[in-house]
Amino acid sequence: MKKAPVPYRRTVFVCTHARADGRTSCGNPGRGGVELCEALKAGVKRLGLKGKVRVARSGCLDLCEKGPNAFVYPDGEWLCGLTPADADAILEALARGA
Ligand code: FES
Repeated sequence: MKKAPVPYRRTVFVCTHARADGRTSCGNPGRGGVELCEALKAGVKRLGLKGKVRVARSGCLDLCEKGPNAFVYPDGEWLCGLTPADADAILEALARGA
């Protein structure tokens, strides 16, 4: 195992997990997790945050009923009940801290 410096100032893990069995999931159609993730990725490019902020899809973060969820590393911020409309506010906060 090798260790390396964290390559981004912040990483936003956005749950896009989907389930076909009817259980609530951030990435299920109509929930908005996937759309939020894509809006954040596009915003990072648009705002010139690429290389500073990384938006990554995550699997289930185990708070499915409170989702869509995202987790900001290393801030330790857990964001719940998100919609794609929250992307701009999240990006503004990331840009201030980037
Ligand atoms: S599906 Fe997103 S937290 Fe479980």
